Amino acid sequence: MSPGRHFLQVPGPTNVPDRILRALSQPTIDHRGPRFASIAREALEGLQQLFNTSSPVVIYPSSGTGGWEAALVNTLSPGDTVLMFETGHFASLWRDVAVRLGLQVDFVPGDWRRGVDPDVLEHRLLDDRLHAIKAVGVVHNETSTGATSRIHEIRRRLDSAAHPALLLVDTVSSLACIDYRHDEWGVDVSVSGSQKGLMLPPGLGLNAVSEKAVAASSSAKLPRSYWDWRPMIADNKAGFFPYTPATNLLFGLVEAIRMLHEEGLPQVFARHRRFGEATRRAVRAWGLDLVCLNHDEYSHSVTAVMMPDGHDGDLFRKRVLDRFDMSLGAGLGKLKGKTFRIGHLGDFNDLMLAGTLSGVEMGLALSGVPFGHGGVMAALDYLAACGAAVPA
Ligand SMILES: Cc1ncc(COP(=O)(O)O)c(C=O)c1O
Repeated sequence: MSPGRHFLQVPGPTNVPDRILRALSQPTIDHRGPRFASIAREALEGLQQLFNTSSPVVIYPSSGTGGWEAALVNTLSPGDTVLMFETGHFASLWRDVAVRLGLQVDFVPGDWRRGVDPDVLEHRLLDDRLHAIKAVGVVHNETSTGATSRIHEIRRRLDSAAHPALLLVDTVSSLACIDYRHDEWGVDVSVSGSQKGLMLPPGLGLNAVSEKAVAASSSAKLPRSYWDWRPMIADNKAGFFPYTPATNLLFGLVEAIRMLHEEGLPQVFARHRRFGEATRRAVRAWGLDLVCLNHDEYSHSVTAVMMPDGHDGDLFRKRVLDRFDMSLGAGLGKLKGKTFRIGHLGDFNDLMLAGTLSGVEMGLALSGVPFGHGGVMAALDYLAACGAAVPA
């Protein structure tokens, strides 16, 4: 028995607010009946607003990984070349999916401490005179490192190289946290999931698809059945699905979209920006290093922190969990044991951040990690000074 609320400060799944829990707990209804169609339409239209697109959004009962697979199998053919960037653990996992599907991945190596370098992208595209590269796959917010790639800049480089490759973007830990514009940035497939900025439990995988992506899906030859967009987009027009949807998660999704609009998306983004800055101020005061090295790529939804040499991130996290009932994100892949991650996304406010950072600061002391005191205070000073809004 642990009294009080558990602090779920992994960077997803995130805390599910009571309003959404109540929406989820409604009785399941007939997904072929008239009441369902209006719920599905509200969910689909609401997602279009969140992705900033007028194109279709496809909802799968899946995790984000299903969304990755769907983006690839609907647009590409066996042996096609995909340009991807080793920005961290999730970019590497998406690469693995592509390789297993029989795609040729040109994987630009990275040090897991920054986002996609637009100059490298542009050179690769200019070198590809025969346009062998059929798609560029980028993780917008690399949850393992806390580095956010600049998608608008990536689009600009695709355009200046006049390269026709599709642009596929993972927005799993950025959607509804960090400003994102599917149409304006010319993204062809935006992949996402329910369990982060949308404040829902895991279980929905999303693809927002451009007209160009839909056109590519009619000639793409990778085998697909469950992930095929075409029956989904066709049935969704009437508010239905070709197979049983995750009905109760859709109840929750509708509630989440209403909540995001009640707060206002600009306010949602400003809130996440504030959390990111406050957290980094705490980390600096502790004298610890951020994993992300580029100032203009700092994530607003997750902060990854390097553990000092000789200190294990997983042991530290275990202490924090045992003592304070708070889950922090683990170092993943190459960063296992070397980092810990603070999730500050979704249903989260200033005092929850204050509690989270307090748990980290006390955990550092308990674990014998050398650190400077005053991180929490630095964050509180910032939060108090900037009020509810924070300049872009
Ligand atoms: C950026 C990113 N992409 C993809 C995934 C994979 O999503 P899932 O674990 O829901 O399959 C995650 C999971 O955390 C993620 O953070």
